[in-house]
Amino acid sequence: MPLSLPARDTAHGLPLNYSRFQPPDVRLPRHIAIIMDGNGRWAKARHRPRSIGHRAGARAVNACIDACLVKGIEALTLFAFSSENWQRPPEEVGALMQLFLRALDREVDELHRRGVRVRFIGAREAFGEDIRTRMARAENLTQGNSRLHLSIAADYGGRWDMVQAARAVAHAVAAGNLAPEDIDEARLAGCFSLHDLPAPDLFIRTGGELRISNFLLWQLAYCELYFTDTLWPDFDAAALTHALDDFARRERRFGMLSEQLGEEPFP
Ligand code: FPP
Repeated sequence: MPLSLPARDTAHGLPLNYSRFQPPDVRLPRHIAIIMDGNGRWAKARHRPRSIGHRAGARAVNACIDACLVKGIEALTLFAFSSENWQRPPEEVGALMQLFLRALDREVDELHRRGVRVRFIGAREAFGEDIRTRMARAENLTQGNSRLHLSIAADYGGRWDMVQAARAVAHAVAAGNLAPEDIDEARLAGCFSLHDLPAPDLFIRTGGELRISNFLLWQLAYCELYFTDTLWPDFDAAALTHALDDFARRERRFGMLSEQLGEEPFP
């Protein structure tokens, strides 16, 4: 696999043209990453099967994409299925697969019409042929879009991402294309999923747990973390606005002092 080298500020994981000195009223995150937790509890509270919670979760996904389009967010990454989720009861895994299939059949053309680029990050091989074919179709159809970069993490784990990045670097070294002493943050960063996007600057986890749960471990290094008790199916445009308001109030220092933040640009 060739090593790509995006123009990137290695210390902060941001593209070189990134400006964090926006006035407060327009300080929006560029890239939001979300762990959509709480579907099961949402269903349980209604005495319904967990699959109904996931279905309600899929509706919340649509609402979240709509809200990001309205607000002009550039990139949205959603944790739909972790490497560990295969261990759930087979009937729940089956219901989730049916839901993914249905979403891929129903939503992709409309996403394309609205200028959304869709891609999937994760191992992918364990999914059925039907899902993999639809994933590839969605990616091919929407690859020219740029209004919103929507990434769906499926059979994804942050440690998996680290392993595949290490493997890509090792291949380059073994092929004689890279000297071990030339491995630096920028080269490694270029091998991770989503390396061509600005690193997520706002991470949201719904459902009350205070964990990152093996999501984008490398990419979240400087991300602002936002946790809410709201269960994912209830996470609507108002809840997203709340998270964005919270983000706008934060001071992102990237290891510097407050007083240095007025000094352009990075040290
Ligand atoms: C976590 O809630 C959620 C999941 C494991 C699946 C996420 C899937 C969706 C939101 C639906 C479909 C997504 C797409 C992209 C179409 P949980 O079941 O762990 O909730 P709990 O903690 O209350 O049990």
